[in-house]
Parts: sequence; structure tokens; C-alpha cells
Amino acid sequence: MEFRNDYEDARRAAAYDELEFGGTYHLAFRDLPALLGDHVSGARAADFGCGTGRTARLLKSLGFDPVGLDISAEMVAVARDRDPGGDYRVIADGDFSSIPPGSRDLVLSAFTFDNIPGQDRKISLFRGLRELLAPGGKLVSIVSTPEIYLHEWVTFTTRDYPENRNAGPGDVVRIITTDYSDGRPVDDILWPDPEYRQVYREAGLEVVAYELPLARGDEEEDWRSETEVAPWAIYVLERATG
Ligand SMILES: C[S@@+](CC[C@H](N)C(=O)[O-])C[C@H]1O[C@@H](n2cnc3c(N)ncnc32)[C@H](O)[C@@H]1O
Repeated sequence: MEFRNDYEDARRAAAYDELEFGGTYHLAFRDLPALLGDHVSGARAADFGCGTGRTARLLKSLGFDPVGLDISAEMVAVARDRDPGGDYRVIADGDFSSIPPGSRDLVLSAFTFDNIPGQDRKISLFRGLRELLAPGGKLVSIVSTPEIYLHEWVTFTTRDYPENRNAGPGDVVRIITTDYSDGRPVDDILWPDPEYRQVYREAGLEVVAYELPLARGDEEEDWRSETEVAPWAIYVLERATG
């Protein structure tokens, strides 16, 4: 399947850099410090699909020492500008050779697989990421749920894309981020929970924790769907045994 990475684009990279941890994104990051505290020992990290460095900078603030990896030179250029002392690398698709195998206590992938088409490609990338894990290391995979493409959110709108309702696993779905200055939609790939679990299994990964975070309603945010529908799924994964 021919698929364009919407993030290989300087205008999108500049817009993406406007995003922080508020709005709908709050739910992706709110529980992350506790999850990492519960499941990860050690500080050596890789941020797969680091984009403009938001998630790598978050890991740094939590005491991790992350290497950011991304296929988009445009996104990595912004990450380096924002954090000149950070380690951000442009990689070819699936090429993790710049990181020693078995060297990462944590591999984070935040929203990266939303843009990666094809079951085989996903399996092969997760296998590559698994190889980076140190003994006991964890891979944290944050992805969009199918529901994010069907509702209205503080940070996103999908109302112009009713065809998202007919999408099945592997189909393109569209969404617009309203919290940044780029009004163009992003083309994502719909990939529901059972399909993710199959990919993890085939990549030799086991799910050790799974969260679908909802807003509690007491936050200072005028939530749209966030108190009732989870926009993100968070998986904590480790090497499967046996
Ligand atoms: C939605 S952005 C998320 C960026 C960052 N994790 C954050 O939350 O701010 C997804 C990123 O994944 C990158 N990406 C997509 N496919 C990739 C691949 N095969 N290898 C590495 N990065 C990839 C894109 O270039 C983009 O920068």
C-alpha cells in the first residue's frame, strides 16, 4: 500500500511543535509517569517516532536518557533546535542499527504506529524495537483508538470525515488537530485493539499492562468526548517468554 507520512513536511513539523501535553493529549500523558515508575527500571531509553521531541523531552524530565529516532528529517530538525543537547537521529525505515541491541530499559512509541500501514510492517518494526530492549526492558506503545476518528475532542475534530465510520482495520482514516496552526487533515491507519494484540504476539511481545484513559471531569478543561470515550490506548509490553 502506498502511504504518505504526513510528518515529512516542514509546515507540519512547525505546527506539531506547538503541541504540548494539554487538551486531549493530557490523557495520553497523565498516567505515564506512574506507569513508567511501576514497570521500568533503568534510564536508558529510545523514543521511536520522536517527532519534534515533545515525548523525548518528557522522558528527560522524568529522569530518562532518551535517544530520539524518526524517519522525518523535518521533525528531527525541530527537535534538535528545541533541545540542542539532545540525541535525535533520522533513521531509514526500520533501521535501528545505530542503537546496540539489548541496550534500552525503555522504548517509547507515542502515536508513531498511527501512521504506519500494513500488518507485516508493524510486526517487523515491533520486532526491531523488541531487539533494543535490555533484559527486563519495557516497550510502551501509545496509539489512537478507533473511536478517536468518530468523535469531537478538545484537540481534534473528525466531523468532516463521516466516511471514517465505514473504515475497517488497515483503512485510512482522517482527523484534524484543532490545537495547532495546520488545518490540513492527517491520514492515519485504523488499527483496533485485537489487531494490535496480534501484532504484538507475532512480534514476540507480551502485554503486561493496558490502559484506556478517560478524563475525570474535574480537570480545568471543557471536555467534549474525553470523559466517556477513550481517545488513546496505552500498552506496556515486554519480551514474550517461551
Ligand atoms: C504523530 S507524530 C508523534 C511524535 C511524538 N512521539 C509526539 O508525541 O510528540 C509520529 C511520528 O512518527 C514518525 N514516524 C512514522 N513512521 C515512522 C517510522 N517507520 N520510523 C520512525 N519514525 C516514524 C513520523 O515521522 C512522526 O514524526
